Amino acid sequence: MQTGLLHLHNLLRWVIVLLVIYSLLKAYAGWTGKKAFAPGDKKTWLFTMIAGHTTLLLGLYQVAFGRYGIFTTTLPEGTSVMKDRFYRFFWVEHPVMMILAIVLITMGYGMAKKPVADEVKYKKAFFFFLLALIFILAGVPWPFREIIGRPYFPGIAG
Ligand code: HEM
Repeated sequence: MQTGLLHLHNLLRWVIVLLVIYSLLKAYAGWTGKKAFAPGDKKTWLFTMIAGHTTLLLGLYQVAFGRYGIFTTTLPEGTSVMKDRFYRFFWVEHPVMMILAIVLITMGYGMAKKPVADEVKYKKAFFFFLLALIFILAGVPWPFREIIGRPYFPGIAG
C-alpha cells in the first residue's frame, strides 16, 4: 500500500501541473478578453483544487509515515535535519513549498466565488495560479536535481 500511495503522489504531480497551467490560461483569457465569468472555468479551478488537496493528503501521509517519514525514520546520531540536504528537502522545503502552492490554488478557486467584477476574478486568479505553478516547479524533486531527484513517472529507476 505504501508504494501504491507514493506512486499516486508521484503521478498526481502531472495532473496538478497540467490543471494549473490550464487554469491559468483560462484566467488569462478571461482577464485579457474581458469575458463574463464562465461556470466552466469555476469547474476547472475546482478540479485543480481537488487534485491539490488529494496530493496534500498523500504528502502528509508520506512525510509522517512514508519510507522517510518523521515517525518511521531514526536519523543517525548527530544528524541535523537542517544540515542534511535530503531530509531538509523532504521534511521541510518540499512540504512548505507545496502547501503554499496548494493554498494559492485554493485562493485561485476562491476568486470564482468572490463578489467582485469578473475581470478582477480572472486577474487575481491568474496571479494565484501563476505563483502556485512557480512553487510547484521549484519544489518538485525532478530527476535532474542532485541528491533529492526522483523519477518522472513511478517505478522508473532514477
Ligand atoms: C502540489 C503538491 C505536491 C506535488 C506535485 C508533489 C510531488 C512529489 C513527487 C513527484 C515526489 C516523488 C515521488 C517518488 O519518489 O516517486 C514527492 C515525494 C514526496 N512528497 Fe510530495 N508533492 C506535493 C505535495 C506534498 C506535500 C504537501 C507533502 C507533505 C506535507 C509532500 C511530501 C512528500 C514526501 C515526504 C515525499 C518523499 C516520499 C518518499 O520518497 O518516500 N508532498 N512529492
